[in-house]
Order: sequence, then structure tokens, then C-alpha cells
Amino acid sequence: MTKLFDLRDLQPGGSIRFPLPPVRGPFGPLSVEGFAHRAPDGTVRAWVNLCPHRAQPVDVGDGRLFNSLGEIECHAHGARFDPSTGSCTGGPCPGNSLQPLPIKEHDATIWLAELD
Ligand code: FES
Repeated sequence: MTKLFDLRDLQPGGSIRFPLPPVRGPFGPLSVEGFAHRAPDGTVRAWVNLCPHRAQPVDVGDGRLFNSLGEIECHAHGARFDPSTGSCTGGPCPGNSLQPLPIKEHDATIWLAELD
């Protein structure tokens, strides 16, 4: 397993970004980032930071992940996602969702269990 971050660095209602192990791309290794959100009830969920619309980072531009309604919103073209499921809720992503990351909590640390 790969350590992603210490849980104390992600307060309820907050989010955090982290690098992921490189994945194989058509011209060599690709660097990919992930992000996690901790719901007010303490549940931590994590996704690959790539929008399913055109594979740009969701927080492209000003680095914000959430809109005023509490949805995850891609700033490239406005795709919106449910923060509890990663499913598209509006914008140019119907039927798609963010790619979830398999994480585990152990000893107040969040770990990446495996990555396809
Ligand atoms: S790349 Fe995210 S909405 Fe287009």
C-alpha cells in the first residue's frame, strides 16, 4: 500500500490533493494527482483528479474543487459531481463519474490500497 496522507491533515468538510504513483501512458509514465474529501460525518472518499469529460484536472484554474452548492465542479466546462458518489450531477458528463480510489484508513493514515 502507498501512504497518501495523515488523516489529521484532512478536517471534516475539507479536501486534500496528493500525487499518485505514475501510470503507464502512450509515451511513457504519466504523473497523475488524486484528491480526497472528508464529509462532515468523517467519511473519507478519494478520486483521481481527472474530469471524465476531457481528462483535465477537476481543479484546473483556481484550484477549487467545490462550488457553492457543495458539489465537486470541474472548472474547465462546468461538469458537476456528487461528493458522496463521484457521479455526474450536471454539465457535460452525463452517465460518467469521477474515478474512485481504493483507500484504507489505518493508524490515522489514509493509504492507497491498489490502483488499476
Ligand atoms: S474537462 Fe471537465 S468539464 Fe470539460
